[in-house]
Amino acid sequence: MHEKIVILDFGSQTTQLIGRRVRELDTYCEIIPYNKFPKKDTTIKGVILSGSPFSVYDENAFKIDLNEIRGKYPILGICYGAQFMAYTNGGKVESAGTREYGRAHLTSFCKDNVLFKGVRENTQVWMSHGDTITAVPDNFKKIASTDKVEIAAYQLEGEQVWGVQFHPEVFHSEDGTQILKNFVVDVCGCKQDWSPGSFIESTVAELKAQLGDDKVVLALSGGVDSSVAAVLLNRAIGKNLTCIFVDHGLLRKNEFKNVLDDYECLGLNVIGVDARAKFFAELAGVTEPERKRKIIGKGFIDVFDEEAHKIKDVKWLAQGTIYPDCIESLSITGTVIKSHHNVGGLPEKMNLKLCEPLRLLFKDEVRRVGRELGMPDHLISRHPFPGPGLGVRILGDITPEKVNILQEADDIFIQGLRDWNLYDKVWQAGVILLPVQSVGVMGDERTYERAVALRAVASTDGMTADWVHLPYEFLGKISNDIINKVKGVNRVTYDISSKPPATIEWE
Ligand code: XMP
Repeated sequence: MHEKIVILDFGSQTTQLIGRRVRELDTYCEIIPYNKFPKKDTTIKGVILSGSPFSVYDENAFKIDLNEIRGKYPILGICYGAQFMAYTNGGKVESAGTREYGRAHLTSFCKDNVLFKGVRENTQVWMSHGDTITAVPDNFKKIASTDKVEIAAYQLEGEQVWGVQFHPEVFHSEDGTQILKNFVVDVCGCKQDWSPGSFIESTVAELKAQLGDDKVVLALSGGVDSSVAAVLLNRAIGKNLTCIFVDHGLLRKNEFKNVLDDYECLGLNVIGVDARAKFFAELAGVTEPERKRKIIGKGFIDVFDEEAHKIKDVKWLAQGTIYPDCIESLSITGTVIKSHHNVGGLPEKMNLKLCEPLRLLFKDEVRRVGRELGMPDHLISRHPFPGPGLGVRILGDITPEKVNILQEADDIFIQGLRDWNLYDKVWQAGVILLPVQSVGVMGDERTYERAVALRAVASTDGMTADWVHLPYEFLGKISNDIINKVKGVNRVTYDISSKPPATIEWE
């Protein structure tokens, strides 16, 4: 078992970010609901208390018994975490009147305090709080101030306990990573030996022990997560892993063949299932977006289930679930929203044991592991692609002809992004086939054909997104190419909506 930092989650939006920052310090950490501290875990080197949407004096505020951790581990409280420790020890926390949100500077701080080692004078920090600590108990020592906040950080005298009002995990806190490093490495003594290589080594050993000679099935999607999970499992159990890749007819142009070839090159034992006819038949005439999604989702499960049961004695279902899918996030009411799975509904239906070798990794770590496993870059750096595929990008009913048109237009756009060196600068891109026809002129002929929309967004997690300011020349070239080369399209538009309020996919 690896040494770890525990991050107790009091519901802040930046809790995951704390986790990412600690991981970036090559240190393993786990985000755990505030009230589920793993008391018996002997690998814990330190504890971070996150922020929270609550005030400490809110009736429903999340509270813990600090005695469970105080004196046993070094503690760093961030924002609410700092306020909570001050308040429960007799300090004063008051509403600041207006919420302070944005940049501030540490106008003074104790340079000899280990938490501030290497921190620059007047360094910028990010504030986001409605409450302020206005007085601390006698044994709390103020160690930093900003021009607006007198007690911006404190340490408990003679104890390994700190509190900071600002958010070191946020990018805008210039020396935030240094501060976290001081805590994680200097105070907690973490060795910074969590790396893709060490992850692969320990995970392969664990998978071997867990799975023995058992047979495992895994649904490949062509996406990064399921592909990396497959390669990792392949390294552990070889041919006892069977991967199933379903063609529902809504993949990108040539994607089924290209991805299958890639998988075979990687030595995976993979079955490609051509189920296009089934999906097209079930989707015929269906226009309602949610209904389309349900049909595609259920069809996928049925096909996968049927194929998986052709393999004798399968005991495990493996999935590429990653850490953000698993973290039990706290809603403001205190209810824990349970983890969800990549391929919704599969585990329930199949009655197999679940194996999720990437469940501890963030997306960028999955990519690093994939590279370390020797996977080709075009598989690793692929844009996300939705499970229902082009089905959510054809507005209205789905027919094979429409899929063909969209595949051609999409291929021109994606290939263009690659040729212009724009592909890696965009988080996700695709084309949407609109249920609209418009008048145009080609040669001397009047045309009355379809319109498509191009979509390209910047994002870090898909939760929020902004449209990308692609060069006009590029958009012009793509528009020309699509109209000239794709029969049935005579108009190209560019989607300039952000999420929210729009979404990335149109359906
Ligand atoms: P939206 O459209 O909700 O999409 O802004 C956010 C991200 O999720 C992807 N997406 C899906 N992925 N199954 C998936 O595996 C789905 O049903 C699905 N719907 C949307 C979308 O492509 C974007 O990356």
